[in-house]
Amino acid sequence: MIVILDYGSQFAQLIARRVREGNVYSELVPHDISPARLKDLKPEGIILSGGPASVYADGAPRLADGLLELDIPVLGICYGMQLIVDKLGGKVESQTANREYGKAFLKVDNSSELFLGIEDSFMAWMSHGDSCTVLPAGFRRTASTDSLKNAAIENAARKIYGVQFHPEVAHTVKGMDILKNFIFGICRAKPVWTMAGYIETEVKRIRETVGGGKVLLGLSGGVDSTTVAALLHKAVGDQLICMFIDQGFMRKGEAKRVVDLISKYMHIRLVHIDASKRFFERIAGVSDPEEKRRRIGREFIRTFEKEARQIGDFQFLAQGTLYPDVIESAVAGGTQAKTAAKIKTHHNVGGLPENMHFKLIEPLRWLFKDEVRKLGRELGLHEDLVNRQPFPGPGLAIRIIGEVTPERVRVLQEADNIVMTEIKAAGWYGKAWQVPVILLPEVRTVGVMGDARTYGMTCAVRCVTSEDAMTARVAHLPWELLEKISSRIINEVPEITRVCYDISSKPPATIEWE
Ligand code: XMP
Repeated sequence: MIVILDYGSQFAQLIARRVREGNVYSELVPHDISPARLKDLKPEGIILSGGPASVYADGAPRLADGLLELDIPVLGICYGMQLIVDKLGGKVESQTANREYGKAFLKVDNSSELFLGIEDSFMAWMSHGDSCTVLPAGFRRTASTDSLKNAAIENAARKIYGVQFHPEVAHTVKGMDILKNFIFGICRAKPVWTMAGYIETEVKRIRETVGGGKVLLGLSGGVDSTTVAALLHKAVGDQLICMFIDQGFMRKGEAKRVVDLISKYMHIRLVHIDASKRFFERIAGVSDPEEKRRRIGREFIRTFEKEARQIGDFQFLAQGTLYPDVIESAVAGGTQAKTAAKIKTHHNVGGLPENMHFKLIEPLRWLFKDEVRKLGRELGLHEDLVNRQPFPGPGLAIRIIGEVTPERVRVLQEADNIVMTEIKAAGWYGKAWQVPVILLPEVRTVGVMGDARTYGMTCAVRCVTSEDAMTARVAHLPWELLEKISSRIINEVPEITRVCYDISSKPPATIEWE
């Protein structure tokens, strides 16, 4: 295992993902973890992430005493390298002339084990204001750029390495090779982290935990919960009961598709609750988006609780919590012990009542999203399911601006269905992060159809590309495709007379309209 100490870099998770892409397990831990605790984890190597601080600033996160004396190889990235230099008696300075943000041409010394077998110059991604001006005793420079003398350093005898650039980002062309040199060459880690291995370990762990008990899983049809279902089913078969609550806000025909797929093709016990009537009643007359979310969330919990009681005794509740959620709570709490069950705020099964007694099972809590997809594939889930775009828990209810009525949902479902069909046919589904269609029922505009004057609703189509939903950009869909979508919606959905394409980026706009 490689442990990554998180000093607050926006790329910290990316480092962990890159290491795992090399089939080596990695964990992200808070930077203030004690060296003793770190040693207990028995890592083959330690990576210090970058971070926004300056080592000489008051209150800046530091390197713990003894961390560099554990006899475990260390790689410091950006701020991580500056911490090493500062700790061991070198000098880190703010040098306005040497600030570098973006690509820089790196010249490296290939005799360093970190750069072994890599060409001697390549582009690297830099983002730093401070730089290391004096190296600690025993260290040598192994890379530089035109404006930065010490772009990489090492004390090979002590297996301590530092790079001022970011090997984890795609712009550093040889980044993965450098990380592999560290992981395999220097740390001697073995590439044993595979999804097949994960399934084996988790199935064993689940069986031991569950014994003869019963497990309940709230299923939404998304990648995470479906993968949890497949994994649990493999482990405990019919001791797993899945509950699918149809709130009435899904895409056209989607509820039936999910139910068919899970019960008919995966042979999983599934309780299907059609709760749409209740949900529509709960949000009748509500226009405020957050109020809609609150009411839908509350009704979801109420329904889940009521229906779970009907199912009878179960001792375990399964959830599709992912590793980024676990890290978030761990880092925010400043200690790994705080990684205890955190339920995504965006997740439907949020805040379940305390008077229900069950133990949580979270078999995806060690995985990143891309690994969940790999796991799903390994478990034999259909490609359509594995490659599903994310869909918000409150569904189409937050894609209708204003009051939500069954009729408005029906109109949006029709328009959305046309968009999804055309996006898939044109090969854009896999390239886009999400393709929301938003109904503006109160924005009425004039149209002419035949000789008649019409006065109908407006809808907006949004197609964005994104890595992680934190930022998003408009997809450059071909005009022909947009025109086809527009003309099909206007011709086939009589209530809609105008279609717009949303070209805003996130930030400042968000992906959803509400
Ligand atoms: P925004 O609109 O904030 O969305 O850019 C970022 C991502 O989160 C999804 N989203 C939600 N998911 N419940 C969910 O389960 C919600 O209330 C919710 N709001 C936004 C959105 O679809 C996008 O992927």
